[in-house]
Amino acid sequence: MPEIVFKGKEYVYNHHLTVPYRPLEPQATKGIGAADLNGNLVIHGDNLHALKSLLPRHAGQVDLIFIDPPYNTGNEGWCYSDGVNSPIMKEWLSTNPVDGEDMLRHDKWLCMMWPRLVLLRELLSETGSIWITLDDNEVHRARMMLDEIFGDENFVNCFVWRKVDSPNDNKVAVTPDHDFLLCYARDRSQVVFSPMVAPGILDAYSARDDRGRLYRDRLLKKNGKNSLRKDRPTMYFRLVDPDGGDVFPTHDNGEEARWAAGEKAVFAHIAAGTLIWKRRERQGRTVWEPYTREFAPDVPTRPYPTIWADVPTMRQAKAMLRDMFATGDVFDTPKPVELIERILELVDQKNTLVLDSFAGSGTTAHAVLKANAKDGGARRFILVEGEDYADTLTAERVRRAINGYAWEGTQRETLLEEKITLTQFKKAAEWLARVDAIKRVEGLGGEAEGTADLVEQAARKMRKRKRFDKIEARIDDGVLRVEGVRRISERAPGLGGSFTYCTLGEAVDLDKLLSGEKLPAFDALGAWLFYTATGGVLPPPPKKAPMWYLGEAKDSHVWLVYKPELHFLKSPEAALTLSLARQVQDWGKSHDAKRKRTPLRHLVFAPAKYLSNRQLQEHGVDYAPLPFALYREA
Ligand SMILES: C[S@@+](CC[C@H](N)C(=O)[O-])C[C@H]1O[C@@H](n2cnc3c(N)ncnc32)[C@H](O)[C@@H]1O
Repeated sequence: MPEIVFKGKEYVYNHHLTVPYRPLEPQATKGIGAADLNGNLVIHGDNLHALKSLLPRHAGQVDLIFIDPPYNTGNEGWCYSDGVNSPIMKEWLSTNPVDGEDMLRHDKWLCMMWPRLVLLRELLSETGSIWITLDDNEVHRARMMLDEIFGDENFVNCFVWRKVDSPNDNKVAVTPDHDFLLCYARDRSQVVFSPMVAPGILDAYSARDDRGRLYRDRLLKKNGKNSLRKDRPTMYFRLVDPDGGDVFPTHDNGEEARWAAGEKAVFAHIAAGTLIWKRRERQGRTVWEPYTREFAPDVPTRPYPTIWADVPTMRQAKAMLRDMFATGDVFDTPKPVELIERILELVDQKNTLVLDSFAGSGTTAHAVLKANAKDGGARRFILVEGEDYADTLTAERVRRAINGYAWEGTQRETLLEEKITLTQFKKAAEWLARVDAIKRVEGLGGEAEGTADLVEQAARKMRKRKRFDKIEARIDDGVLRVEGVRRISERAPGLGGSFTYCTLGEAVDLDKLLSGEKLPAFDALGAWLFYTATGGVLPPPPKKAPMWYLGEAKDSHVWLVYKPELHFLKSPEAALTLSLARQVQDWGKSHDAKRKRTPLRHLVFAPAKYLSNRQLQEHGVDYAPLPFALYREA
């Protein structure tokens, strides 16, 4: 398979491995509900670091990733700031933000995306999928990169979303009005999507049988193109009508026709009682004609198209955000909630874990909350946003969606609509008087002029006073339109839910553990060691877990003797002793006996050990010294 070549690729290829692990630190006052790292999360921080932080709890667990990264248009002001250990790439840090003049802007974008996509893939579950919005600036390079990271066999589709509904620049011949939405599966053979629910399909089923089932009958004889016996000789065969007569497919002009299905399918209909004979008049004769009966599907569906022109546009997405924040534009490039809702419908699971590591205004969380409110689902979201507005915009939108928000908007009511023909145009003064009268009637001023009967007509029509804040009159495409405009204040109801707001803690630097600098909390270090040693996600702790117990991996119980206190770590209390090895072994035996299985081995992380290798062996214990050695279990 051809591979994409770009400057810096050799340095970023494995960069994800050198990114330090920084534990997630919940900020109690900024979330809603009790802090829970397994629940909904909004994380403030660079997503490269945040994705690494998510690995211990979420590796292989995420069902759906939606990302809307910088498109690299040359004027977004995005920065390449990954600090990859190479002189050429360190130099790149001085040329931020990456603008349209930058000759290396495509290389930089690929270098930024590569390690993030590698980590995102590690977070995806075996049945998961990743969806990425882009435009023509990078979509072709992104596809090559994604083919390489996810495997081209896992490419699912490239959808097109119509993002604008009116031309945005009248001076040029062509302006793009769509974005792309790339979809890759973690494993194409395991991912499952649901087709689109299409109630309109039921319109084709107009009859009901005696059991109340909707059905339609279709003539078995093929008509139109390729409908002759010679076109499909195997579809020309004899059927026996209810009077015992032979019936062959024949056109009205006497030509030998063919059935619309083969012998096997037709006899399956006969066996199922869905081959229906009807008496029909044909050229003055009454004959029997066979029909196949099709029942309406319980859930009518059709495949999703790849062009999404029915999803709201960017303009509507911005309007929604303006309503939620009751101000002007708070964010330039929000995606419509409905775009992500569409993806959630396709994935069609009520407990999907959704990750968006370029969260912006938090649309993805809003879509997840909406979907749950609609169908009582238990979907969860994880958002990551690097800018300071992670709190004031991203998380704030989530708060407003959960709790509800005051909504201010404008409502318009058409008070007069009249096509202005030449004859009407001659009565311009009368029309102006009528507009003026409407204003007067609505209690919004206006000087009535013109004929009394027009003023009177308008006055009769508008009884209530001051229903509007203003009256607007304009002529559009030759139509005079007068509208009453009123500001309204309402409260959009909350969708319910909770979330935990996190920042990224200090990097866990194992080499610095015993120097006492930056000692991580037990949970943070435990989750990371567990993931590093076993490649698996730390399960929730069992009830009544003994001291130092971390959790169960595939073939062993994992323990960590650790407190974030230097004097403890250097003390004999922190050592793996014979007595601790016995306790570990005894607990394991009884725990595993209850589960009717042979006892698992034990992997114990501790700063020191006071027992021999033979004693370790006798107790079924593997020792991993802290902080110097970490290894993966074979
Ligand atoms: C195009 S916007 C996403 C808009 C979002 N889909 C919405 O509907 O509002 C991209 C977002 O990614 C954020 N971003 C870019 N690079 C990032 C990084 N390295 N870490 C975290 N966030 C980043 C930007 O700050 C920006 O808010």
